[in-house]
Amino acid sequence: MKKIPLLLAMALVAIQTGCYYDVEEELYPNITCDTATRSYSTHIVPILQNNCYVCHSQAANLGNVTLEGYNNLKTYVNSGKLLGAIKHQQGFQPMPQGQPQLADCSIAQIEAWITDGALDN
Ligand code: HEC
Repeated sequence: MKKIPLLLAMALVAIQTGCYYDVEEELYPNITCDTATRSYSTHIVPILQNNCYVCHSQAANLGNVTLEGYNNLKTYVNSGKLLGAIKHQQGFQPMPQGQPQLADCSIAQIEAWITDGALDN
């Protein structure tokens, strides 16, 4: 009779470790997502630098898409393609290409910045 709880405990451990994967928000759930303060230069550029410029800098220009530089980026904001791509919406190329979707917080910050009028701030 005593064996059943032990087996159950082992099964639970197996299930939990089996589902383990590296998602920043889940590993560090207490990090708060700051979408109240957002600016092009402090928040948006670093996200793009880390995830997109490898293919979409002015020099790389992969797929004939340049996201480096405010005016270039603004074109994709206005067409809805930036948000469509990072939110993996239907009808858009899911970005970053060949990589997992951006962290929820990064997407939220970009979306909040766009809602604010996508200012060059
Ligand atoms: C590994 C290279 C690579 C990375 C990294 C990458 N892209 Fe792209 N992206 C491409 C290519 C190639 C295309 C053109 C795809 C096509 O037309 O088939 C493209 C197209 C796009 C488009 C146009 C989509 C459309 O529907 O017309 C947008 C917007 C875009 N990328 C945004 C981003 C953003 C934002 C990031 C970072 C979060 C990113 N990309 C990261 C390679 C990349």
